[in-house]
Amino acid sequence: MHFIVSLVGFSLVVAITGITINAGYDNYNAPYNTYLVAEPAHKREDKKDKQDFSKIPGIPGHDYPIYHTVPETSFSCKHVPALPGMYANVETGCQAYHVCYDGREGEQGSKFLCTNGTLFSQKEFTCDWWYNVDCKEALGLYSLNLDPKKNPYFQKPKDGVKHELADADVEQYIKILI
Ligand SMILES: *[C@@H]1O[C@H](CO)[C@@H](O)[C@H](O)[C@H]1NC(C)=O
Repeated sequence: MHFIVSLVGFSLVVAITGITINAGYDNYNAPYNTYLVAEPAHKREDKKDKQDFSKIPGIPGHDYPIYHTVPETSFSCKHVPALPGMYANVETGCQAYHVCYDGREGEQGSKFLCTNGTLFSQKEFTCDWWYNVDCKEALGLYSLNLDPKKNPYFQKPKDGVKHELADADVEQYIKILI
């Protein structure tokens, strides 16, 4: 309940800062977990490039994806709730994620891969060990991009709101010192 109320708050902030909200994002029904048909692992001659999977729990390519590059997917920044923002690519089992801006990087934004054994956590906006991330939840958490505390690309307001926040922070800091 608290969360819903906060989200309404974010939406208001969002309206002030002019972030783009796409109301149609929930039409995105990408197939989940198709990474099991991932591209074959590249043969590497250089031993330094070979990753030691033995310290990662689970079976590489089975329990977690091991992409070498971001594969072709139907992900589109047109289907996300807020721009700019960070979005897990569920078609890669969340190993890939996208940073969507205003469209200047193309329909898929900038694409990145989390290192093997880790997945993009839509909850934390960072790559985390695969066993800590529930990729199935990712689409439902896309709207966290409306939260300025979560979304690192959230455009900070340039008006008085920022100064009020800063003053509050200073007060808090002084309290801690005292
Ligand atoms: C993951 O492991 C595979 C197989 O060793 C390798 O080809 C791929 O480059 C690795 N991916 C990343 C993101 O390091």
